Amino acid sequence: MKVAIIGQGYVGLTISAFAGEFFEVIGFDNNQKIVYQLNSGISHIEGVESSVLQRWIKAGRYKATTSGSDIEDVDLVVIAVPTPLTKDRQPDLTYIDAACKTIGENVKKPVLVINESTSFPGTLRNYIKPAIEKYSKSPVEHLYAISPERVDPGRGDYNQKNTPRLYAGLTSEASERTRGFYSRFCDELLEVSSPEVAEAAKLFENTFRQVNIALVNEFAQIAHSLGISVYETLDAANTKPYGFMKFTPSAGVGGHCIPVDPTYLAAVAEEHGAPATFIRRANEVNLEMSKYVVDRVQADNEGTLQGKSVLVVGVAYKPNVADVRETSSELVIEHLRNRGAVVSWHDDVVGTWHGESSAPLSGADIAVVVTKHDAVSERDILASAPYVFDTTGKVKGAKGL
Ligand SMILES: NC(=O)c1ccc[n+]([C@@H]2O[C@H](COP(=O)([O-])OP(=O)(O)OC[C@H]3O[C@@H](n4cnc5c(N)ncnc54)[C@H](O)[C@@H]3O)[C@@H](O)[C@H]2O)c1
Repeated sequence: MKVAIIGQGYVGLTISAFAGEFFEVIGFDNNQKIVYQLNSGISHIEGVESSVLQRWIKAGRYKATTSGSDIEDVDLVVIAVPTPLTKDRQPDLTYIDAACKTIGENVKKPVLVINESTSFPGTLRNYIKPAIEKYSKSPVEHLYAISPERVDPGRGDYNQKNTPRLYAGLTSEASERTRGFYSRFCDELLEVSSPEVAEAAKLFENTFRQVNIALVNEFAQIAHSLGISVYETLDAANTKPYGFMKFTPSAGVGGHCIPVDPTYLAAVAEEHGAPATFIRRANEVNLEMSKYVVDRVQADNEGTLQGKSVLVVGVAYKPNVADVRETSSELVIEHLRNRGAVVSWHDDVVGTWHGESSAPLSGADIAVVVTKHDAVSERDILASAPYVFDTTGKVKGAKGL
């Protein structure tokens, strides 16, 4: 079977690497540089080993391409393109639309189209299917299914194989074939009654994290105002063997999914006249956390940051990855600079970001730890400045939330 995977980023390349063991995979991406790199056997995604890619290339089971004609004779297409927010924070389906155009214009015979991109309930039925049909030059009866991606990049214990996979087709034949595809490389497959349930489940999973992170971020502020340790309090609450799940406070919430996906749920809720006030407020609390952190740092430093050299330690959105998408460091740095601080950042995992390079971990007046990679020691962080504010709870002896 020949499989086209549209989008060769975190999700698409990960699927390609797993599927390459069983199928001939065409990795379609509109980024020429990424395609060139992939065809040279170099992976740009953490968790996808270049050696695996090289093995599939050598066996003739993987090829990256920017050319639509390479996917015209495939049997199955997976969509794995970005679903970000527009400037006014609304769902942006332009990438999905472009993927549908590629499929519609190039795939001539009936195939199974599976969407893995995260989007609101109804996207497969009301958006993807009509868009592909619109772009098809002659009428083709494709099958359609959704199987939302749940992968957590950089995670060691759960991966594509052992994370249970939800799926649903628009028809029972689509469901059956979707199961057949994923069962080759996923241990557990769970069919739900409609694509809308699968789409909503993915959004709700990430919304659950978003609101709980907001709750603990708010609680960190309450605990500080009461003069008690937020960490000790959370550890104490976590001794309850049921009904509690521990989340930890931070400078906000970063990453590709948690700051974005809940807004997809809120948007579709509001479109249907249902309130999403809780989701909207959680988003605000998380975004405001960076200001709270900078307020605390300023208060501890004679009430001014003017002219002080501040080193932000860790700019990736989470430990041990180089991903800076939606990172809360962005807002922390913005608040610090707006208050006259001279800001540099240290993150050798990220290396370069916004045209700036990672600065040495030393010599600052103030250090603010936003993300602590395992490779950076507590001792080095504490030695980098006379005042260290830690938002991660991992640097003992520093000031913190
Ligand atoms: N990264 C994650 O951890 C994760 C987890 C679960 C779900 N998701 C969802 O999966 C989807 C993809 O996310 P990602 O993290 O893989 O994104 P990504 O930015 O890492 O990769 C997307 C890739 O798609 C390519 N692309 C963009 N438009 C294209 C087009 N029209 N045709 C072909 N290629 C195109 C880009 O060049 C890029 O290589 C999103 O909906 C996201 O929300 C991501």
